[in-house]
Amino acid sequence: MKFHGAPERFEAVADLVGRHFDTNKIKYVADVAGGQGMLSRILRKRYNCECDVIDPREYGIVGVNRRVECYVPDMATFYDLIIGLHPDQALRPVVESSLYRPTIVVPCCNYWSAEKMGAKLMRQSIEEWYKAHNIRYVVEELKIDTPHRFALITFGPKIKG
Ligand SMILES: C[S@@+](CC[C@H](N)C(=O)[O-])C[C@H]1O[C@@H](n2cnc3c(N)ncnc32)[C@H](O)[C@@H]1O
Repeated sequence: MKFHGAPERFEAVADLVGRHFDTNKIKYVADVAGGQGMLSRILRKRYNCECDVIDPREYGIVGVNRRVECYVPDMATFYDLIIGLHPDQALRPVVESSLYRPTIVVPCCNYWSAEKMGAKLMRQSIEEWYKAHNIRYVVEELKIDTPHRFALITFGPKIKG
């Protein structure tokens, strides 16, 4: 199967899921802007979780569940984990989903701000958003061959007290 960009990105994001979350507790995953559905296929095989690709694109890998629609944060609470790997226009809805569920986002093009921003500035601006909303997060650099290789992993709002 042919993919645009660095094909190792799917395995790299699947590794993140295993390292940051208890995969026994991750039953339903939203693979937002999942394109053909390669990440969903790997996650299902590796961790036996139910994955939905949520993407307006109609066709993808046979056997991978698809919701052919644009993602909005209202969809988040159905899932245990929301992932946006190079999510284009779904970037902001995935970031905002961190208010409701754990998320992983690997931004690519700047659909974050009307301001012109490179990858680094966009990442910093997303981090500012998390801080402003009290979201616990970490950043990891994936070992993939593209400038768009920074993953932001969130773990819900900080508990006040
Ligand atoms: C750069 S591709 C990435 C696809 C896949 N995650 C990958 O890494 O190969 C961006 C995808 O975002 C989808 N997309 C664009 N706007 C979206 C939205 N509002 N909600 C969900 N998916 C969207 C596009 O249809 C496209 O498949």
